[in-house]
Amino acid sequence: MSHFTLLPGDGIGPEVIAQAKKVLEAVSVRYGLDFTFEEQLIGGVAIEATGDPLPSSTVEACRASDAILLGAVGGPQWDDPSAETRPEDGLLGIRSELGLYANLRPIQVHFPTASPLRDAAGVDILFVRELTGGIYFGPSSLSDDGMVARSEMVYAVPEIERIIRVAAEAARGRSGKLTSVDKANVLEVSRLWRRTAARVMADEFPDIEYEVVLVDAMAMHLLSRPRDFDVVVTGNLFGDILTDEASMLPGSLGLLPSASIGDGPPGLYEPIHGSAPDIAGKNLANPLATILAAAMALRHSLDLLEPAAAIETAVDDVLAAGLRTADVAGTGPTASTTEMGDAVARAVSM
Ligand code: IPM
Ligand code: MN
Repeated sequence: MSHFTLLPGDGIGPEVIAQAKKVLEAVSVRYGLDFTFEEQLIGGVAIEATGDPLPSSTVEACRASDAILLGAVGGPQWDDPSAETRPEDGLLGIRSELGLYANLRPIQVHFPTASPLRDAAGVDILFVRELTGGIYFGPSSLSDDGMVARSEMVYAVPEIERIIRVAAEAARGRSGKLTSVDKANVLEVSRLWRRTAARVMADEFPDIEYEVVLVDAMAMHLLSRPRDFDVVVTGNLFGDILTDEASMLPGSLGLLPSASIGDGPPGLYEPIHGSAPDIAGKNLANPLATILAAAMALRHSLDLLEPAAAIETAVDDVLAAGLRTADVAGTGPTASTTEMGDAVARAVSM
């Protein structure tokens, strides 16, 4: 038996989670698996219900599960800058509480016609974003007069070592190339990152082809020569920005899943997109990123490789058949969130 905690959250979160659950149920029937699901509160809906974006009951349930599937958090109704807590604190909190320091974000271009770039065919990059450190978690403050704010980017050697190891191991299982992205020409924290990464690579991964690229140059290379990259490792903030940019290689943020993992179970799986409040509740959201995140959960947390591949193949088949939500460019018929989920569930069952 495998137990999933579902964290639908805000905006389009509940809609996309419902489709992922539907697909997991279909794959469990096909492969004779026993999946159980339990929903918990996170983000804005948790603030409304309990005053806390990450209630302790949610953390407990997550700890007790085999995998966690999250929709999205945030929305304009919680954007008040003077508010004590924000929906995003729930997501940052669960990542940190569970020690999910490695965020894997695969970027693959299966349907180049959906890409706004002329030639994105063949792109296959795995971003490994550090997730529980850096400027997201460094000391921050606002002066009493409200005139000066600071947010510090902090990395300690062990945090850098472990994320480099995750990325280098991943590179070993792929084409054997790793790119580390930093801003070492300006930031002291990046110089420590670069020195530490170079040492780990030389001592432990001499077989991996290794290079360093500055983050501003990387933003450019991602568009000018995306096929030159295999595994890309970087810090929390740079990884957040570069992966949103990279999502335009396949053509939509709505296609990209991610896995957040630590040294032990459970892992947390989520689309890289946000809560998209403008289309929430309209049955328009693309559920594929969340469905693919569920596939990543099967692979990374449950070691169910064949069912994971079956979901990925089903997604490819449905897209290849021309079905697509409005966010994905192309000529096929436009599908709603539920139609897309139904189509993938059907394809999984065949
Ligand atoms: C992401 C999101 C989150 C982040 C937000 C919602 C806190 O943008 O997962 O990329 O910045 O990490
Ligand atoms: Mn982001």
